[in-house]
Amino acid sequence: MTTYDFTDRTALVTGGSRGIGYATAELLLRSGATVVVTSRKADAAEAAAASLAETTGRTGRVLGLAGHVADEEAATRVCDEVVSRFGSLDVLVNNAGTNPAFGPVTEQSRTVMQKVFDINVTGPAIWAGAAVRAGLGRDTPGAIVNVSSIGALFIEDGIGVYNASKSAVMHLTRQMAHELAPSVRVNSVAPGIVRTRLSEALWKDDEDAAAATTPLGRIGEPADVADAICFLAAPSTSWITGSNLVIDGGQLVH
Ligand SMILES: NC(=O)c1ccc[n+]([C@@H]2O[C@H](COP(=O)([O-])OP(=O)(O)OC[C@H]3O[C@@H](n4cnc5c(N)ncnc54)[C@H](OP(=O)(O)O)[C@@H]3O)[C@@H](O)[C@H]2O)c1
Repeated sequence: MTTYDFTDRTALVTGGSRGIGYATAELLLRSGATVVVTSRKADAAEAAAASLAETTGRTGRVLGLAGHVADEEAATRVCDEVVSRFGSLDVLVNNAGTNPAFGPVTEQSRTVMQKVFDINVTGPAIWAGAAVRAGLGRDTPGAIVNVSSIGALFIEDGIGVYNASKSAVMHLTRQMAHELAPSVRVNSVAPGIVRTRLSEALWKDDEDAAAATTPLGRIGEPADVADAICFLAAPSTSWITGSNLVIDGGQLVH
C-alpha cells in the first residue's frame, strides 16, 4: 500500500496517456482507486490503461477512453461512462495541458492563444461541470485537482501565454472551490520543470543547467507531482480546498 487510501473511490485523470497524468493514475491505482485515463486518441488511452493494469496488477480497475479536453460532449460522455461502468466518480484530475505558443505574448495569433486557453482553462471548467452533473460529490466527498504551473507565479520569457493560462487555472481553482463547497474540494498543483515530453525544450539539451535552477539540485519526475496530486485528492485532506501546492524543487525560492 501507499501513503494514500483511495479504496472504493473512482478517479478520472485527463491526459493520462503519459507524463504527469500517467504517473498520477499509477499512484491512484496503487492506492486502491479505480482509474479512468483519457487522451485525445482512443488507442493511446487504451495502451496506457493496459500498461497501468500490467504494472500495478489492478486488471479490471483501469480504463482508457478518448476525449479532447476542449470538447464538451466528450466531457459529458466520459464522465457518464465512468459512473455507469464503475458506479461513482469521486476524484477528477484536470491534468491535460498544452503549449503551442512560444515568443512574446504580443506576437501570438488569436488562433494560438485561443487553443491554449481552450485546453488549459476552459477544459478544466468544462470537465468539472460534467463531473459534478455525473455525480461528483453527491454520495461521497468529491475532489478536483487542477494542474497549474509555477509559471503562473512569475514572469518568464517565451511562454507568457502558457503562463497566463496557468495563472487563470489558479484563479479558476479558488472560484470553483468557493462554488462547489462543501460537497467538492478543489485545489491545484503548480509544478516546476518536470521530465515529460511537454517540457523537453526546458531540460533535454542541458539537464544540469535545468537542475541548477532548483535548490534541491534536480528536475522533477512525474511521480513527484503525482504524489502532490494524490495528497490533495485524498480523503484524508478533507479540510483543504482552494489551495495551490507548489512542487518545484525549490525553484521559486532560488
Ligand atoms: N512537464 C512540466 O515541466 C510541467 C510543468 C508545469 C505544469 N505542467 C502541466 O502538467 C500537465 C501534464 O503535462 P505533462 O508535462 O505530463 O505533458 P505530457 O507528457 O506531454 O502529457 C500530456 C498529456 O495530455 C494529453 N493531452 C494533450 N492535449 C490534450 C487534449 N487536448 N485533450 C486531452 N488530452 C490531451 C496527452 O495525450 P495525447 O497526446 O495522447 O492526447 C498526454 O496524455 C499539463 O497541464 C502541463 O501544463 C507540466
